[in-house]
Amino acid sequence: MQISDLIIIDKEEVKLEELQLELSDRKSLLGLLRERSHLDQLHRYGLPATSKLLLHGSSGCGKTATAKAIAAALGKKLMILNLSNVISARIGETAQHLKLVFDQASREKCVLLLEEFDQIAKLRSIEDSDVGEMRRLVNSLIQLMDYFDDRALLICATNHIAFIDPAILRRFQLKIGYRLPMPLVLDDYYEKLLSAYPEQFRSIGRRYGISFAEARDHVLYRVKALIIEQIENDLICEQKNN
Ligand SMILES: Nc1ncnc2c1ncn2[C@@H]1O[C@H](COP(=O)(O)OP(=O)(O)O)[C@@H](O)[C@H]1O
Ligand SMILES: [Mg+2]
Repeated sequence: MQISDLIIIDKEEVKLEELQLELSDRKSLLGLLRERSHLDQLHRYGLPATSKLLLHGSSGCGKTATAKAIAAALGKKLMILNLSNVISARIGETAQHLKLVFDQASREKCVLLLEEFDQIAKLRSIEDSDVGEMRRLVNSLIQLMDYFDDRALLICATNHIAFIDPAILRRFQLKIGYRLPMPLVLDDYYEKLLSAYPEQFRSIGRRYGISFAEARDHVLYRVKALIIEQIENDLICEQKNN
């Protein structure tokens, strides 16, 4: 298995303004993008750009979508690597694979998204690996992060921040948390999604206490059902009239 087989190059054009984000988080992300348009000037003062971002929290609340939006806003390629596909009992090999991916991202100055980043902690549960070896892998990851070219951007995403080593957490210059949306925020999201359909298909029973991804699935499911219901009713009327 080649490491390149595990990397996904994503080209979906997500727009940051289309995502529901907390105002302070949106500001932080816009700040990160703004820095990137003045990199040379910042470097002249010896100042590195923010290049390590951690997105953590509930599933379906926009971590992957945020990474896509950032890459699109920067006009950079997005490389996605799911850590659960790379981590193996052969820790030395895992470290080598990670190095290859980091090197490629640095070289191409692209956005590297490591999904399921907490998998790095899973190593603790691999029984036949010794503690020293695991420590070495964490150290090599820290080293890769420290030497990562700041013209590239590393984004790590996890649903389980508590599993991540504090020494690694410290390396992220920006951390953004994602939570299940409050009802008012979801209502806003429902309005946006439903505005794409004619009025008569918009009265769906709304669900709350769920993620954006689940709300979206719910909308699509209900709207489709309403459309089909109408088509079938129209057919019945037609048949009656004939
Ligand atoms: N904050 C959000 N604002 C708007 N849409 C969202 C948001 N979060 C999730 N979605 C919708 O749900 C889909 C899946 O979300 P995703 O970013 O993959 O979640 P995560 O990576 O946190 O599990 C997105 O492609 C988008 O359609
Ligand atoms: Mg995701």
